[in-house]
Amino acid sequence: MQQSPIIILGIESSCDDTSAAVIKDGKILANIIANQDVHEAYGGVVPELASRAHQQNIIPVVDEAIKQAGITKEEITAIAFTNGPGLMGSLLVGSSFSKAFALAMDIPLIEVNHMQGHILAHFIEEEFNETDPVINTGIPTFPFLCLTVSGGHTQIVKITDYFKMEVLGETIDDAAGEAFDKVAKMLGLPYPGGPFLDQKAQLGNPNKYTFTHPKVPGLNYSFSGLKTSVLYFLKRELKTNPNFIKENLNDICASVQKTIVDILLIELKKAIKETGINQIAIAGGVSANSELRKRLASFSAAYQIYIPKMEYCTDNAAMIAIAGHYKYLQKDFTEQSIAPSARMKI
Ligand code: KG4
Ligand code: ZN
Repeated sequence: MQQSPIIILGIESSCDDTSAAVIKDGKILANIIANQDVHEAYGGVVPELASRAHQQNIIPVVDEAIKQAGITKEEITAIAFTNGPGLMGSLLVGSSFSKAFALAMDIPLIEVNHMQGHILAHFIEEEFNETDPVINTGIPTFPFLCLTVSGGHTQIVKITDYFKMEVLGETIDDAAGEAFDKVAKMLGLPYPGGPFLDQKAQLGNPNKYTFTHPKVPGLNYSFSGLKTSVLYFLKRELKTNPNFIKENLNDICASVQKTIVDILLIELKKAIKETGINQIAIAGGVSANSELRKRLASFSAAYQIYIPKMEYCTDNAAMIAIAGHYKYLQKDFTEQSIAPSARMKI
């Protein structure tokens, strides 16, 4: 018999955010995220420092999530955790914690693929509260296409059921988030550069500079050429004007952002045409990008567009908990012997 309510504790520790979330019958009760600012000084994530920070954060973050959800740990039905892809040391902290928690509480253990979690974030339901109504962007029905864009991945995925996902195209080199971060670094913006570049871009002219698009077969992407062409462009301009970046920062950001979003949307539109699927979603950290959100929102009314709430775009445990919820319904549990996988595929 189905246990009711189903309360899932989700744990996410794949990169540099330690997060714990509680989901009850598919509805979010808490989603706590501890960001790690220890990496800022290095301009990128230092894996060993990330693992140590996860180790320090994990218990307080879980404690806070349980408190905010207004439940006791004895009420938790199952624990779901990110088993990959990600940084091995970081994954080990979340998986070891989750295994110990499952053993101690005698509840099922559920492994989740981080990228599937990003996509399934679209299924998180908000608890409706009359004094604080939350506008839900809606829940997709199957099949739908998802442009999954993060710091490590850029994929067009066809989703025919909760865990039936097919990658139709993906990047052959850098991810879109990496392109944002690398260009931001060249421009002297803080890490992680994507959100900072986005802020500056909103004040600039996106048509001031043009950068060439890659030529890649199929529905695949490439972003390493763009990074190199921005580098050479900056070097050339700085030779004649050492203040070029300072004087044109907003326009450079807007032009690079437009190019990345153009590249992303050209392949996505091809995928829509090839598959005939008109339900389109975006997921992953780069789905927080203002230009990408704006351009998708203005797609023709013939398409149903799903844009996640900001807090479910970048890494969070709510997406792991909702994936855990659907795996729980399928009784898809995992063994204590499971090992994290840094390069796990969808
Ligand atoms: O999904 P995510 O939080 O972590 C990974 O799984 O990689 O994605 C992080 C990536 C970073 O590259 C970050 O710069 C990018 O998402 N990002 C953005 C924005 N917010 C986050 N990129 C462009 N515009 C944004 N507003
Ligand atoms: Zn992610």
